[in-house]
Amino acid sequence: MKIIIDSAGKIAALAAQQYVDLLKRKPNAILGGATGSTPLGLYAELVRLNKAGEISFKDASSFNLDEYVGLDGTHDQSYRYFMDHNLFDHIDIDKSRTRVPSGIDVSDPSAYDKEIAAAGGVDLQLLGIGNNGHIGFNEPGTPFGSLTHVVELTESTRDANKRFFKSIDEVPTHAVTMGVKTVMQARSIILMAIGPAKAPIMKEMLQGPVTEKVPASVLQLHPDVTVYMDFEAAKLL
Ligand code: PGA
Repeated sequence: MKIIIDSAGKIAALAAQQYVDLLKRKPNAILGGATGSTPLGLYAELVRLNKAGEISFKDASSFNLDEYVGLDGTHDQSYRYFMDHNLFDHIDIDKSRTRVPSGIDVSDPSAYDKEIAAAGGVDLQLLGIGNNGHIGFNEPGTPFGSLTHVVELTESTRDANKRFFKSIDEVPTHAVTMGVKTVMQARSIILMAIGPAKAPIMKEMLQGPVTEKVPASVLQLHPDVTVYMDFEAAKLL
């Protein structure tokens, strides 16, 4: 595992460089997308580099980690909407090759794993981390062998995300998420963490035992992970 600690701006630029290198080497790479506040700086940097002609997504495709159950892509808090507005609408990717799990048809969630496998597997999966150690919406206790599945969100996750909704009652109670195993099958992984609220969990994830109680700790077992943290997220290491 590679660990990089710098300012939020610098880690966004360094992570973006990983995308530049990957897409130069493999223009039709499959990218694993993530939502939340953390990737916004990286996405802004990718948009800038794309407009500057330094990176092209025209042959790339993507699979996002997760989606709220019950929200369709037109809902402004859906993760499809987030991806379109923060990245896809501003880069040269073919939108028909961008996938976000459906929050409306959740009858066969693990079909998503089959789609990913049929496409050739994710080359570079981006992750944030929840204050409780979740990756995607794999909350503490999720089996490491899990594939894409529907989860009930913990109160702590709903509480963390209520800032985006009018009230906590509007925060969906369920989500569909790639499983821990789905994530671990990516050839390379980037995990980003920004801000002091993430400091305790970064210590647990990196220096604690590998345990299903801290889903992100599984990344200690992956052969190609780069963790990008700002100084505040790294302050307890
Ligand atoms: P955040 O969310 O980037 O908004 O902190 C991360 C996560 O919950 O995975």
